[in-house]
Amino acid sequence: MRVMSADGQCVTLAEIPMPMPGPGEIRVKVVASAVNPADSKILAGEFAGRFLHAKTSPLVVGFDVSGTVDALGDGVADLEVGTAVWGHLAYSGSTDQGAFAEYVTLPRESVAQKPEALSHNVCAAAATVALTSLQSMRDLGGLVEGGRVLIIGAGGGVGSIAVGIAKRLGAHVTAVCSTRDVERVKELGADVVIDRNNSDPLAGEVRYDVIFDTPAVHSYGACARLLNTGGGYVTTLPSAALFTGKVRTLFSSKHCHFVAVNSKRIDLELISGWLEDGLELPIDSQHRIADLGAALERQVDKSRSGRVVVDVANGWPS
Ligand SMILES: NC(=O)c1ccc[n+]([C@@H]2O[C@H](COP(=O)([O-])OP(=O)(O)OC[C@H]3O[C@@H](n4cnc5c(N)ncnc54)[C@H](OP(=O)(O)O)[C@@H]3O)[C@@H](O)[C@H]2O)c1
Repeated sequence: MRVMSADGQCVTLAEIPMPMPGPGEIRVKVVASAVNPADSKILAGEFAGRFLHAKTSPLVVGFDVSGTVDALGDGVADLEVGTAVWGHLAYSGSTDQGAFAEYVTLPRESVAQKPEALSHNVCAAAATVALTSLQSMRDLGGLVEGGRVLIIGAGGGVGSIAVGIAKRLGAHVTAVCSTRDVERVKELGADVVIDRNNSDPLAGEVRYDVIFDTPAVHSYGACARLLNTGGGYVTTLPSAALFTGKVRTLFSSKHCHFVAVNSKRIDLELISGWLEDGLELPIDSQHRIADLGAALERQVDKSRSGRVVVDVANGWPS
């Protein structure tokens, strides 16, 4: 099968054997994927990348998957070849495939059927960021109806969809973003928007039940004062400050977590319903698979506004 292999910013076409689905797995013909910060961390050889993907040659990344079932592994009886599905390839040091390829294999329980009303592009753009947001705020943070959440990085991929997800969980949302994103984040449904270019989001006396630090720029220690009793802080990156925060919470009612996104069918089904119902997901741009290099560059462009989608089914280089 064809894959786009990336080494640093040099992207080339390669051919590798088609993956075979094991027991409980399915093979998916990829229609669309999207770019995540994880891709550049892996391609740049950053230390964090070792925990996200195996060091393979050729190196193929891409974690968001929307496509059609192409083959069924033993024991998978509730899907048919041709069914449209979507999900996220695991962030793991043992993940040795990527969605910038014609085919990937995934555990059946890590995908959900794609509703007809949703495009492959939307599902690909949503998979990683929506799962991360839901699992961070609801499962780790403990956000419930009527709770108050502070979402830092609300103009970004995870933060943008987190605003809409928190509203659907029935929360009051305070969102932190840069000046250029203030109006857009208000339109996503935030109740209060703090422009981080003009004020310190951690100043003031308002208290929250959950603080979701999507860019992982504020430690638990810096946020603890703003948490209600029993409140939770969730960050997206492991760090020494996370460890310190965990130790501090041993003696406190407050809690501190790192999210490790987990592609779960039941969560994808919930998110599917929300997307059908109008959950907004800003999309910055769409690129042919042949232009993966441009897509990776766009992801790190400061003027990007939303998700960078890759059309994998069409536009392979000749
Ligand atoms: N652990 C997991 O399972 C998991 C899953 C998904 C993502 N992640 C990680 O989560 C992080 C965010 O991902 P993403 O897709 O949302 O990235 P993104 O689209 O680049 O968004 C990051 C956002 O953070 C904002 N930001 C940067 N510095 C900031 C600061 N000092 N204060 C407040 N906001 C700041 C940026 O906006 P402005 O600079 O314009 O304000 C931007 O909107 C990445 O590091 C990614 O690898 C982890």
